Amino acid sequence: MKIRHVKTGIVLGSLIALALASSATGQSMTKLWTSDAVADRQRLMKLNGASWADAQAKLKAGSIEAIAVNAETLALTSTQIPALFPEGSLTDKSKAKPEIWQKWAEFEAAAKNMGVQAEKLRDAARSKDQAATEAVAKEFGRQACGTCHQPFRVPPPQPQQPPAPPQQLQPR
Ligand code: HEC
Repeated sequence: MKIRHVKTGIVLGSLIALALASSATGQSMTKLWTSDAVADRQRLMKLNGASWADAQAKLKAGSIEAIAVNAETLALTSTQIPALFPEGSLTDKSKAKPEIWQKWAEFEAAAKNMGVQAEKLRDAARSKDQAATEAVAKEFGRQACGTCHQPFRVPPPQPQQPPAPPQQLQPR
């Protein structure tokens, strides 16, 4: 019995040491994501899209303070963006542009800017100031998301463009 306890203690002790060692080298951070960077960043971006849509719906409904949780989500996800774009992670499933890696400092700055804009939105929402929140929200899509999508993302196909008007109506 005694010997078993000692053994368990040794095993536990080395497990803890292992856990500490791996967190010290940052191993536990990378475990947050899978080995598929494209899938991970698309998952994160979907959360961005859903969070922003939710914030806009709350703005419409006048639930100003409730927007803060969406804005805080966006502030946090923005910090994860650069790590999800490792060099060489451009596949045919990705809508990322190669410019990301040619202008890496600008890409990082765009992610940082998203964080700043999201915190602005969060603070306005927390203050329950409807006019201030509306003012930040009005520019948010273009300021926080568009400034990165425009230079660094292949635009998604436009849904259902109306057909171009005929050049000339032929008389019957
Ligand atoms: C720093 C750059 C950057 C910022 C900031 C950014 N995005 Fe993106 N986003 C991208 C890139 C690049 C892709 C394409 C990723 C890929 O397919 O590999 C993308 C893809 C997406 C997608 C498509 C995901 C899918 O299903 O494939 C959505 C939705 C999206 N972003 C929403 C947002 C929203 C909403 C914001 C602002 C709150 C935002 N993004 C901010 C760079 C950014």
